[in-house]
Amino acid sequence: MWRAVKGESFPAFAVPPQQNPSGESPKAATMSTKTHVVTLIPGDGIGPEVVSAVVKIIDATGVSIQWETMEAGGEVYAKHGTPMHDAVFTSILRNRVALKGPITTPVASGFSSANVMLRQKLGLYANLRPSKNLPAIKTRFEGVDLIVVRENTEDLYAGLEHIVVPGVVESLKIITEKASTAIARFAFDYARANNRKLVTAVHKANIMKLSDGLFLECARRVAREYQEIQYKEVIVDNLCMQLVTNPNQYDVLLLENLYGDIVSDLCAGLVGGLGVVPAANIGPDIAVFEAVHGSAPDIAGKNLANPTAVLLSGVLMLRHLGETSHADRIEKATMEVLAEGKTITKDLGGTATTTQYADAIISRL
Ligand code: NAI
Repeated sequence: MWRAVKGESFPAFAVPPQQNPSGESPKAATMSTKTHVVTLIPGDGIGPEVVSAVVKIIDATGVSIQWETMEAGGEVYAKHGTPMHDAVFTSILRNRVALKGPITTPVASGFSSANVMLRQKLGLYANLRPSKNLPAIKTRFEGVDLIVVRENTEDLYAGLEHIVVPGVVESLKIITEKASTAIARFAFDYARANNRKLVTAVHKANIMKLSDGLFLECARRVAREYQEIQYKEVIVDNLCMQLVTNPNQYDVLLLENLYGDIVSDLCAGLVGGLGVVPAANIGPDIAVFEAVHGSAPDIAGKNLANPTAVLLSGVLMLRHLGETSHADRIEKATMEVLAEGKTITKDLGGTATTTQYADAIISRL
């Protein structure tokens, strides 16, 4: 079970597992002497820049992590005919935990998404994306604290498209009772464990009566088992309008894959942008941590990207590994650097490079 603490201070992403990947009980672990082996996927675009900054920060805490670096993306596709080689899956299956940078997916042609492939093949059925105001970043709304729970394996991302006749394309939206029930249960378990009061299921069942209808039916059935948590429903277009006018009326949002993808970027915009929102892809006993953002080709290779989103994903990962005190130190140092405002990246209104920002965090650890 994943836990997060809802509260005033930033440590909202405190997510100690009930069982850590080694199978040991989680205890009140704060700092261990164990070496963790973690699969590291730098990805492409801004991926290698932000991931190397994050690894430098994590290593500077003194936590014992052996990184098993794996390539993935366009260059791998050119060499091996797949953007994600079998060795990547083998590594994650062995280590049960990975930290991942973004991977580019060609638009309207080319290979299928390596990110989607990873989630589907490893059964990472839940995508947890917390969007919370950071005290140091001024935004239109205060007190935003939203948890997006996105189904991660099916829907239109099943990748089932074909040309019916020239000029007519069919793309299949797959919604199953099994996946919908599993993600609804994840959202309610998460809400219960973290003292969240409201789960809102997001849909378009007025139009897609069967597919989104089934998703809602599963959510309603699960909701009945969690009487202490309020359950509501909202049509996805209305949700978008509500979020940009009064985001604080929501708590945990439960969404299918496509709506979850779109709405999580919207939520990121409410709290300072894609540069600051972390995420975790969670399966029954595997977790892959990565930012919400993509490979940002417009700023790649310029040392401009904000590594905070991957860094906070790394903080989530450290808590998952039971390395709470190292996670806390990184989080505190990051908040201090952001609050000081002198060494922040361009997306947040500053002039610091990725490297300068990372070094400023390290100097405060
Ligand atoms: P994107 O998230 O890469 O970029 C959107 C905007 O946000 C851009 O203006 C970018 O410069 C900015 N941005 C993103 N991350 C930032 C950071 N850390 N610091 C500062 N600014 C940042 O989305 P886009 O452009 O739609 O997608 C680019 C590529 O990334 C596509 O090939 C897409 O398929 C892929 N992608 C991969 C994901 C993953 O690996 N999980 C997730 C989303 C997209």
